Amino acid sequence: MDKLLIHGGASLKGEIWASGSKNASLPILASVLLCDGTVTISNLPELQDVITFKELLVALGVKVIAHEEATLEVDPRCVNSLTAPYELVRKMRASILVLGPMLTRYGQANVSFPGGCAIGSRPVDLHLGGLEAMGAKIEISDGYIRATCADRLAGTRIVLSSVSVGATENLMMAAALAYGTTILENAAREPEILDLANCLNRWGAKISGAGTRKVIIEGVDRMHGGCFEVMSDRIEVGTYLAAAVATSGKMKISRTDPKILEGVLKKLGETGAEIKFGNDWIELDAENRRPRSVNVQTAPYPGFPTDMQAQLTAVNAVAEGIGIVEETIFENRLMQVQELNRMGAKIAISGNSAVVTGVKRLKGARVMASDLRASASLVIAALVAEGETLVEEIYHIDRGYERIEEKLCLLGAKIRRSNQ
Ligand code: EPZ
Repeated sequence: MDKLLIHGGASLKGEIWASGSKNASLPILASVLLCDGTVTISNLPELQDVITFKELLVALGVKVIAHEEATLEVDPRCVNSLTAPYELVRKMRASILVLGPMLTRYGQANVSFPGGCAIGSRPVDLHLGGLEAMGAKIEISDGYIRATCADRLAGTRIVLSSVSVGATENLMMAAALAYGTTILENAAREPEILDLANCLNRWGAKISGAGTRKVIIEGVDRMHGGCFEVMSDRIEVGTYLAAAVATSGKMKISRTDPKILEGVLKKLGETGAEIKFGNDWIELDAENRRPRSVNVQTAPYPGFPTDMQAQLTAVNAVAEGIGIVEETIFENRLMQVQELNRMGAKIAISGNSAVVTGVKRLKGARVMASDLRASASLVIAALVAEGETLVEEIYHIDRGYERIEEKLCLLGAKIRRSNQ
């Protein structure tokens, strides 16, 4: 199993670029199944989850025409299976996103029931309820979601009882080829939803209102496919900026969009860092400054993203003062706390909040990653800690951060991957 060996103490300085967004790439890869023409997706990040999703599409019969670096060209006209198998779904919960496209395009879909994961039970009731409202028949047997629809899914008004990124994406894709118009109320507003809608429209769908609480999808008879470039990863950018704050560094990140990071930039500014930005770059200066503690409560977009919660906990761990970090989206997303405390942090958990009393110095230690963003917070802590930290189980990190040690080395970090 690969590990990351990090020698802490260096302030991160320099310039890097943002990779393509993992959380935009995955639904866009799923939407390939809606098309009856070839599809080319560019700016795909080289991540384990993208590789796994490509494996899933191939398992369904999608033909890979070319895959050079960040660009994938496929032909979805040879789908010969409508079953997303257990061995792939258990590796990546986002496989559930093939359910809507497969069902609306082929009238049938079998998807292994995605289990929970480290951060929570991750139910899919909103996905299934929305599809049933559109006329799907759904049963669960032998650990599989088995969905069928007699003719075509029928457009209808769906009010999501709670905000869900995945359910919004799955139902948007299902409605794209449904008969009639679908109105999705209380839809998630994350930028990745808008990126998916832009992609679907490029490929022939008729979607409006994506990025707002009310999305309107006029069903079309077919989607011809085409080309689309995935947006940049806002969580990757936020993670590196948080590392710059924690290590009192100075960093510029290009190929990003500051407008979709407002909640994060506001919080990082409250630590005392100076932030400048242009239309596709962000520069943060925290040189020779210990961060001030900040309080934060995670919320659906445009609130502070839950995917940045662990990283901000790591910043608070070395900040001046006491910062309270409240997680409101997932029931078990504070697992970084134990490992950070093993590095000398002073964090107490109260309900779904972490009460973080900043300390001047963390100490390197052997730590274990538990989930994608908790691992990122351990890397941030290791970068600022005294001495060496060995981060184990870093396959979690490889799911969401492209070439992490290359980018951190460019910023002056002392980090290397080892597979001893
Ligand atoms: C997406 O997960 C992201 N993943 C997550 O990023 C992100 O944390 C999450 O949205 C919230 O922003 C991808 O986009 C691939 P949800 P998703 O449905 O769609 C509950 C990362 O680190 N819920 O918005 O699974 C659910 O339990 C990952 O990159 C239901 O109750 O999240 C949670 O409490 C982690 N029933 C809340 O809603 C449902 O049917 C939000 O979940 C669906 C969700």
